Amino acid sequence: MKTRTLKADRTGIAEAAATLAAGKLVAFPTETVYGLGADAGNAEAVARLYEAKGRPSFNPLIAHVAQISDAERIGVMNDAARLLAAKFWPGPFTLVLPASADCPVCELARAGLPTVAVRVPAHEIANALLKAAARPIVAPSANRSGHVSPTQASHVLADLEGRIDLILDGGATPLGLESTIVNCTSERPQLLRPGSITRARLESALGSPVADASDTVSDTPNAPGQLASHYATRARIRLDAYDVKAGEVLLAFGSDLPPGADPARTINLSLSGNLIEAAANLFAHLRALDALGAETIAVAPIPSTGIGEAIRDRLVRAAAPR
Ligand code: TXA
Ligand code: MG
Repeated sequence: MKTRTLKADRTGIAEAAATLAAGKLVAFPTETVYGLGADAGNAEAVARLYEAKGRPSFNPLIAHVAQISDAERIGVMNDAARLLAAKFWPGPFTLVLPASADCPVCELARAGLPTVAVRVPAHEIANALLKAAARPIVAPSANRSGHVSPTQASHVLADLEGRIDLILDGGATPLGLESTIVNCTSERPQLLRPGSITRARLESALGSPVADASDTVSDTPNAPGQLASHYATRARIRLDAYDVKAGEVLLAFGSDLPPGADPARTINLSLSGNLIEAAANLFAHLRALDALGAETIAVAPIPSTGIGEAIRDRLVRAAAPR
């Protein structure tokens, strides 16, 4: 299969919507990362998507829709879900809900679960595409399963060339980390994946603490990215590095470089120590450091405040033994 790349102008978006409607695979930008889209109601298209990613098929997908009213047809919202949807949609935010009785997202995309993940993205191109497609689109991050998520069209091409039909190129994604996922299938909302919508913002919207994925015993495999190794680079990753050892490359944060750092083998997440900038740079910088061919990437300490929680979450998974 030849993978075409189109500019995300009006013609490109119309072509991408028609390609999705025909059951084919289209990568497109969102404000978080590039997603690999397929028609959520077309099980064959979804099967091709799992195949293209090499994704274990027990991992359920997020259905993307253009507006809140579309989300209400997919899942059942309790009060907390409604409040969070009103506050954080459209945006980098995903709700896990009990699937509605006539849920248009096929069983395969939900991995057979009685629940469904839904997101209304805010990115202009994603939103225009969803409107034009006029159907829910499931979209995991557009990388080979287990790899670092793509924040540029070139990352998508590097992972999926020849395996998908179309890439809609809308430049670099502004936030760079996947959406915050909150499980609202029971009374107390539960943070399944930290992201740009921070724990503090969720709790201030709800007026109460959110539970963690590990807090409740549940009969559904509900914590995303639970696979031991996720966001895998070729190089090993050493976290909270206060020095840089011989042969290591460095993912730095802030202007103070640890002893042993070689500026030629260092990429900085944010010179000024800005966590938002660091989040946006994380995956691209991991890919770039990996390309230097070192055995190990040393990662400077990242504070766990605000979106730092989400950055550290991704780094811990990237560093997991494999
Ligand atoms: O920002 C994002 O969320 C990006 C963009 C493309 O929208 N998408 C994304 O999708 O990160 P993906 O497939 O890489 O991650 C979705 C996570 C998975 O780890 C999956 O386990 C979880 O969402 N998930 C999906 N459905 C679920 C469900 N019913 N219950 C619990 N977790 C679910
Ligand atoms: Mg992913």
